[in-house]
Amino acid sequence: MNERTTLKVNGKNHLEIGGVDSVELVKKYGTPLYVMDKEYIEKMCKTYIDAIKEYGEGKVLFASKAFCCKEIYRIIDGLGLGADVVSGGEIYTALSAGFDAEKLYFHGNNKTFSELSFAISSKVGTIVADSLEEIDIINDYAKRNGIKQNILIRVNAGVEAHTHHYIQTAKSDSKFGFSFADGSAINAIKRALNKPYINLKGLHSHIGSQIFEAKSFVIAGEKLIEFYKKVLDEEKVEFSELNLGGGFGIYYSGDDKMMKEEDYKYFVKVLFDAVYKSCDKYGVKKPVLVIEPGRSIVGEAGITLYTVGQIKKIKGIKTYAAVDGGMFENPRFALYQARYTVVKADEVKSDVFDTYTVAGKCCESGDVLAEDVKLPPLKSGDVLAILSTGAYNYSMASNYNRNLIPPTVYVKDGKSGYMIKPQTYEDLLRNDI
Ligand code: LLP
Repeated sequence: MNERTTLKVNGKNHLEIGGVDSVELVKKYGTPLYVMDKEYIEKMCKTYIDAIKEYGEGKVLFASKAFCCKEIYRIIDGLGLGADVVSGGEIYTALSAGFDAEKLYFHGNNKTFSELSFAISSKVGTIVADSLEEIDIINDYAKRNGIKQNILIRVNAGVEAHTHHYIQTAKSDSKFGFSFADGSAINAIKRALNKPYINLKGLHSHIGSQIFEAKSFVIAGEKLIEFYKKVLDEEKVEFSELNLGGGFGIYYSGDDKMMKEEDYKYFVKVLFDAVYKSCDKYGVKKPVLVIEPGRSIVGEAGITLYTVGQIKKIKGIKTYAAVDGGMFENPRFALYQARYTVVKADEVKSDVFDTYTVAGKCCESGDVLAEDVKLPPLKSGDVLAILSTGAYNYSMASNYNRNLIPPTVYVKDGKSGYMIKPQTYEDLLRNDI
């Protein structure tokens, strides 16, 4: 467990988050329950904002896909972040929360006509273009709206990072971005420069997620500047922005590094240093650097609380502890075999342990939340907490099996309240004919 002041074991041997005993949260709100430590989210936002101020000129965008609801936009707005959005729904949520459209960056490999039209008419500040057709459409809609639309071109520098290592490839097999290798990136730039209703601000690249290896970002940054120099020479166009995406890793379990604020600041420093060094090397003007962290802002802020139901011991094989959640509220084990730290929230420390597979309640054998975890002996009614569930859990939840998506409560300074209310059966029927 990556303990901190706002996530620890209290005097009752209960898990405490944001100054609130998790067992009290369960009594008040029931389970399954997503809990978000608001102070941690704020602290992470400030960490990035401060780092940017310290190391150069830049912007921090929160990657909405990690956790999207109205309240998160209010939080990041107050702290000076912009946001990366990837669908009409995320744009709509941000605008409904009063978020300034100018501070939105709209991504996606296949934005629909209606999403592009909605984004441009809503005055979304920047669109990250991902295909030649999209560049044409943006120009068209911008003309209709009587504006010049800011865009970035999403490029693929052939660097892919996966957790603890990275790979560099000459060819790129990705549905995202224009590749350097086959000339499509330079073509896209030429296309954008020929459009009267487009203002090409610069490049965007995102190399992966849950990355701990700073070197991957360094290589990507250097490659982008090298490419920028080529563009400058060939097209005589100066870029004002370079967006390097997100991807900074968080602690889930086991070997993952227990990240602290300084580690995230260090990532930003390394990134800025590398890009600035390359700018000097090639004699190009330093662009504003943009980063888009998602997971690292909200991931460790979140925990999910469950009540244990059936315990099923299969002799000589394993023991299942089934909880009242499952892949409908956290599909990450089913999708990626993601590993988590699981604790018995009402008895965190113990001298005796059994090994459990924590299973969900969906009608599907693969509906597992965590495999082979050591927990104090469990019985029906105990409270379990899965840690680091703040990113890509609520945002990837579904109503599979017509289970209700759990509510999200925030905790801060010993207080709690809803950020997202519980769904009801009525909600499930809302669009049924
Ligand atoms: N920017 C772009 C363009 C991205 O595609 C992503 C994530 C981010 C920023 C934020 O990356 P982060 O800082 O959160 O790592 N569902 C998967 C994660 C998919 C990430 C997709 N893109 C999961 O649950 O692990």
